[in-house]
Amino acid sequence: MEATLHLRVNGQSHRLTVDPATPLLYVLRNHLQLNGPKYGCGLQQCGACMVLLDGKAQPSCLIAVETVQKQEITTLEGIAQGTQLHPVQQAFIDEQAAQCGYCLNGMILSAVSLLNENPKPDEAAIREGLERVLCRCGTQSRILRAVKRASH
Ligand code: FES
Ligand code: FES
Repeated sequence: MEATLHLRVNGQSHRLTVDPATPLLYVLRNHLQLNGPKYGCGLQQCGACMVLLDGKAQPSCLIAVETVQKQEITTLEGIAQGTQLHPVQQAFIDEQAAQCGYCLNGMILSAVSLLNENPKPDEAAIREGLERVLCRCGTQSRILRAVKRASH
């Protein structure tokens, strides 16, 4: 049964009529046309669907949308400041860290979340911060360099 819900996404308020059990990922992609978060496994195991909830990276594919009404939701589309890319986005470009791009949403948002908590992570902390995101293209070493660059 549908209900009217309120969400804060990328600094904007939205009123939506949806089934409250719908996964947040579907609402972001299908109702708000925010396609930064990707559908990968649907099981909270690949990280492709990552979003920031109150600044912390969380997979959105199994979270019922009704449970995040009081949280500030940020997607990949919301981390730049106008035309100014987020330092993590710029570092990924500078280090050419993107290959197919499927994992990048999760990699970038996990890095932003990590740097929110720990602005100068060592390599072990970066690896731990990114470990929930699977990259099947093998760009991990460039991704590590990009996150290090963004932390300088
Ligand atoms: S699609 Fe959500 S973790 Fe894989
Ligand atoms: S760049 Fe393709 S999955 Fe990571």
